Order: sequence, then structure tokens, then C-alpha cells
Amino acid sequence: MAAAGIASLVLLLSASAIVLSIKDGQIVSQCDYPGIVAVVIPDNGAIICNGVRSKGILYVPELCGAAIGDILTKFPLVLVYGDGTKNLTIPVNSTGTFADGIFQMPITEPMDPDCNSEATLFDSSMDISNNSCELAGYGAEQLAGKIYDGTLKAAPLTKSTSVQCCKVIFNSLTKSQQGVILNKQAPLNCVASSGAGCGLGDLGAPVYCRNSAGEPVVVGLAASFPCENEGTFVIYDLTKSDSGFKFGISA
Ligand SMILES: *[C@@H]1O[C@H](CO)[C@@H](O)[C@H](O)[C@H]1NC(C)=O
Ligand SMILES: *[C@@H]1O[C@H](CO)[C@@H](O)[C@H](O)[C@H]1NC(C)=O
Ligand SMILES: *[C@@H]1O[C@H](CO)[C@@H](O)[C@H](O)[C@H]1NC(C)=O
Repeated sequence: MAAAGIASLVLLLSASAIVLSIKDGQIVSQCDYPGIVAVVIPDNGAIICNGVRSKGILYVPELCGAAIGDILTKFPLVLVYGDGTKNLTIPVNSTGTFADGIFQMPITEPMDPDCNSEATLFDSSMDISNNSCELAGYGAEQLAGKIYDGTLKAAPLTKSTSVQCCKVIFNSLTKSQQGVILNKQAPLNCVASSGAGCGLGDLGAPVYCRNSAGEPVVVGLAASFPCENEGTFVIYDLTKSDSGFKFGISA
């Protein structure tokens, strides 16, 4: 897994020379997206991926997890969080686990509480407002764009299919819409946005929806970033395949 993951990531890094942040996204405050983090290479500030932390656990896509695991055998990484100025070191040889396309790693060093508290992950007792979902990520604008610059952007989701339906349509998606999914069994939602994830800087960009209490809850992490407005892309599902996470579909 680690070898395949790092090879795929290197491929992506070289393929996505032009790394954009969320295309047509609005610049937003980290404080409105609780628990959002960027995993960054300390030497040069390059973004490995986006993710969330919830209850002391870092959640990132499997591809990112494989790369993190590989890098951590050689040097430490930095987790940037909060208002974008805070960070902590992920020590060499820290380990995590893979399940359902998501890599989870306990973060032992405590984080400063601030406006950006831990993420709340979706659970089936929650009612989600379908028109409230947004993709949020830290990709940067320039060619040197994998460099973390603290700018967070968000764009609304306009469609989502359930995991069941995404399985059915997945093979009809283009390669860039499909992304690189290492675990073919991983539950995915097929979604669309008026903006788009563009380039590696948006890998793992979390999708937040509001529950009936108006609180942001995380329902998935971007797995592909085809850079097309209203184009379909896939997110690793964090709703435990809840069949209600579907909206905006005409059929
Ligand atoms: C991490 O925090 C330190 C201290 O505030 C800062 O000097 C450094 O630039 C930060 N690193 C990143 C990658 O944000
Ligand atoms: C990390 O693990 C490798 C291989 O097991 C070991 O050689 C190395 O000393 C470890 N590094 C640290 C800082 O623990
Ligand atoms: C979300 O959309 C689905 C499909 O249209 C619908 O069944 C569900 O009730 C909607 N949920 C809310 C909270 O509006």
C-alpha cells in the first residue's frame, strides 16, 4: 500500500504542475470550518493534503495517508490548523490505520483550542440541510501552488449521489473525475460543485454540511479534483454510506 501510494502521489505531483486552489471558491475563515487542517512538509511548506481532525484523530484520504507514512520514515511533517498560524509536528515514525479509503492517525500532542475547534463528523442521527454543503481546501494559486499560504477557499456543492448510486455511475466517470482510489471497495459519494477542486493542493479537502442546528459537520474528503465547474468528482464518504446524503439529482 505505501509503495503504491507514494508512487501514485509522485505521479500526481508531476502531473499537476499547475496546482490551483478551489476554483471559483470564496476565500473564507478557518473559524467557520472547524477541524480543517493542512499536512505540510516543514522544509518548503508544500501541502501534502487537506484533512480534518476530530477527537484527537487526523482523517485524510488513503493516498495521502500512504504518502504521509512513507515520508514519516524519513522526516517529520507539520500539521497546520486553527486560524492558519498554528501548527504542530507529526513526529517521525508516527503510524495510523487505513479503513474504507480513509487514513486515521492519532495526534498525541495536544492542540491549542481556538476558533477552529475539532471537527464534528456526520452521524446518522443528524439531519443535513442539502443546500448547505461546501467543499473547503487550502490549495494555492501559483505554480509554486502546493506551498501552504494560509488561504482557505470554499465552494458550494450542488449535487450529491448516495454511495450506492456512485458505485453504479463510477465507471462512466472520466479518469480525472475518478481520481486515484487505492481501495476499490472504499465507499464514495459522487458530487458536483459550482466551483471545483483543482490539483493536488485540494486532495482531502473536506465537505462540510450544516445539520438542523446549523452546525458544520464533515461528510467526506475530496478524492478527485478534475477542475471542472459542475463536473462530477468523488469524495471519500464519512457518513457510513448514509443513503440520505443525496441531493440535486434530477432522476
Ligand atoms: C509553524 O509555526 C511556527 C511558529 O509559529 C512558524 O514559525 C512556522 O512558520 C510554522 N510552519 C508552518 C509550516 O506553518
Ligand atoms: C524510525 O523507524 C526506523 C525503522 O524502524 C528506525 O530505523 C528509526 O531509528 C526510527 N526513527 C525514530 C526517530 O524513531
Ligand atoms: C435531501 O434531499 C433528499 C433527496 O432529495 C431528500 O430525500 C431529503 O429529505 C433531503 N433532506 C433535507 C434535510 O432536506
